[in-house]
Amino acid sequence: MISRQLAPFPRLDLLGAATPLHKLERLSLWAGRDIYIKRDDLTPLALGGNKLRKLEYLVAEAQAQGADTLVTAGAIQSNHVRQTAAIAAQLGLRCVALLENPIDSEDPSYLGNGNRLLLELFDTQVETVQNLDNADQQLQALATRLSNEGRRPYIVPIGGSSPVGALGYVRAGLELGEQIQRSGIAFAAVVLASGSAGTHAGLALGLSETQPRLPVIGVTVSRSDEAQRPKVQNLLERTAQRLGVDLPASVRIELWDEFFAPRYGEPNAGTLAAIKLLASQEGVLLDPVYTGKAMAGLLDGIGRQRFDDGPLIFLHTGGAPALFAYPGVWPQQP
Ligand SMILES: Cc1ncc(COP(=O)(O)O)c(C=O)c1O
Repeated sequence: MISRQLAPFPRLDLLGAATPLHKLERLSLWAGRDIYIKRDDLTPLALGGNKLRKLEYLVAEAQAQGADTLVTAGAIQSNHVRQTAAIAAQLGLRCVALLENPIDSEDPSYLGNGNRLLLELFDTQVETVQNLDNADQQLQALATRLSNEGRRPYIVPIGGSSPVGALGYVRAGLELGEQIQRSGIAFAAVVLASGSAGTHAGLALGLSETQPRLPVIGVTVSRSDEAQRPKVQNLLERTAQRLGVDLPASVRIELWDEFFAPRYGEPNAGTLAAIKLLASQEGVLLDPVYTGKAMAGLLDGIGRQRFDDGPLIFLHTGGAPALFAYPGVWPQQP
């Protein structure tokens, strides 16, 4: 059993209680379909988001290794880097981050507001790089340099998406499975943003324990189905191996790749419409890079009848701080 295998892995308990699962009443009326939301945007770390769950396992490993510095990488507006820097601050560790500008933006808000502003508050040591095309090697080189300076670095991979990080979402899948069982509702699907894939792979694996027939649909935020599928598959296999379980035959990778255009980090009209809809109908803040695209996929899926009958669950993975990095994308400024 996955839950039994997961239990012995070292984990820092920073999450506390389960994140809420609740119905979006007004959006459900609007869409003509019951839509529930799992609030991982409300995790208790520096404006929330999905990365805390991964970091609970990654940082437990870092501490077991005696690390004094977390080393990671991402886009200038990375939510992952923000949450890694925040946990470092909370635990009295240093954080060094390699940052790239994946959309070549010169907008001062992109370069200095949103998540990037918060990195300054957390005392993050930022190093800018041209790109992160070889992120693993770049992180390794940085860690070697820091070791030579007498530091004890621990590498947190991009997006926290290693088998250890994905354990956080295995746990989330078990948690959501329990909430679904308690609700007694026959949900038709779970929809989430699929990026570095640890959230998607971990959630699918964890949910398979109690909800083996529930489709988990990843809306890609940067890649075609063809490019994303091996990433999810690879993490599924390696995470199952890490847990010491066979990958359950019921776990099927479903990806929708029609919503990420024009590219990672750039919202399209559907993204913006989804953000505006959730804000105006529910007071819920999505983001322009991940959850706005995922919600656009969910709404389109309802319109095109891509789901079986039954209520839907949207996994809100956070990201709203990036709204302040993209003020210029809105057609009319307030
Ligand atoms: C807000 C938000 N949603 C979703 C994701 C995607 O999660 P993953 O990288 O595990 O696929 C991220 C990753 O950075 C994120 O910041």
